[in-house]
Amino acid sequence: MKAEILKMLREGESYVSGQQICDILGVSRTAVWKAVNQLKDEGYQVEAVRNRGYHILESPDVVTKEELVSMMDTKWAGQNVCYFDKIDSTNIRAKQMGEEGAPHGTLIAADYQGAGRGRRGRMWESPSGSSIYMSLLIRPDIPPLNAPMLTLVMALSAADGLKECTGLDVQIKWPNDIVANGKKLAGILTEMSTEIDYINYVVIGIGINVNMREMQKDIEETATSVRIETGQVTRRSEVIASIMKKFEENYEKFLETQDLQALQEQYNHLLINKNKEVRILGANKEFTGYALGINEKGELQVKKEDGTIKSIFSGEVSVRGMYGYV
Ligand code: BTN
Repeated sequence: MKAEILKMLREGESYVSGQQICDILGVSRTAVWKAVNQLKDEGYQVEAVRNRGYHILESPDVVTKEELVSMMDTKWAGQNVCYFDKIDSTNIRAKQMGEEGAPHGTLIAADYQGAGRGRRGRMWESPSGSSIYMSLLIRPDIPPLNAPMLTLVMALSAADGLKECTGLDVQIKWPNDIVANGKKLAGILTEMSTEIDYINYVVIGIGINVNMREMQKDIEETATSVRIETGQVTRRSEVIASIMKKFEENYEKFLETQDLQALQEQYNHLLINKNKEVRILGANKEFTGYALGINEKGELQVKKEDGTIKSIFSGEVSVRGMYGYV
């Protein structure tokens, strides 16, 4: 009920009368009054004016299931939400739920991860109270070979969502790091369960540094947060809902052609590596070239010194700028 009340208060132009809420939700006035008081205890500023009703003045940066449900404006992405104060890893939980048959679009979010995981077996530091840790479970009917492109669909959606909610000029470091002022703001880890020619499910996990005042010493040279860059506290639920909305739109475009044709231009526009010299670090060889952008398969097109163009597939290499991370 709290989620429904929050949604009504947010959608209402000005005051929403207690009676209106009772009628729509089919509950008593006392029940509404109690729920509003609980919201106030959680930090929402709700004004109650006699003969007019309730009005929401300010929402805090709380992430709860109710808050997420009330913010979500999608058809399927994030419509089934599970929220945990503490968890080992949202990707691990999403995979378990994938095995148990959870529906396409299920979102797992947490405030703290005890065993957050990054790409290439690294760990992902996941302190509480300031970041977004979430994993989206999807069940695409596409060949497993096309699945790596979904990571780029999420990178684009996260960049768009962050831009919209924070005003930050975010960019993408190929294939899927989100960057602000040359430092990493978010990372994406995609995992999947497949048969030889069939995808059971894909889990796209994303970690975003939102309200940290400072980064840990060992990563402060290359990582940043929204708060460090903007000086402002951002409501995490707003960012989550916005990314779900963008992902839903972009995913539907992706499905039409099962590649990035429709998203390529937008992605390349945000690509920090574009028109820059890059170092491509493979398992046992390294070369430098000039990054042109991605093709419709999401491969980075790199022009080598001899003029030939090489397509770089995301699984096989790391990309570095000539002088550091970007
Ligand atoms: C990277 O190395 O850049 C990817 C980091 C991905 C971290 C996110 S946080 C939510 C989800 N759960 C995890 O354990 N990892 C991902």
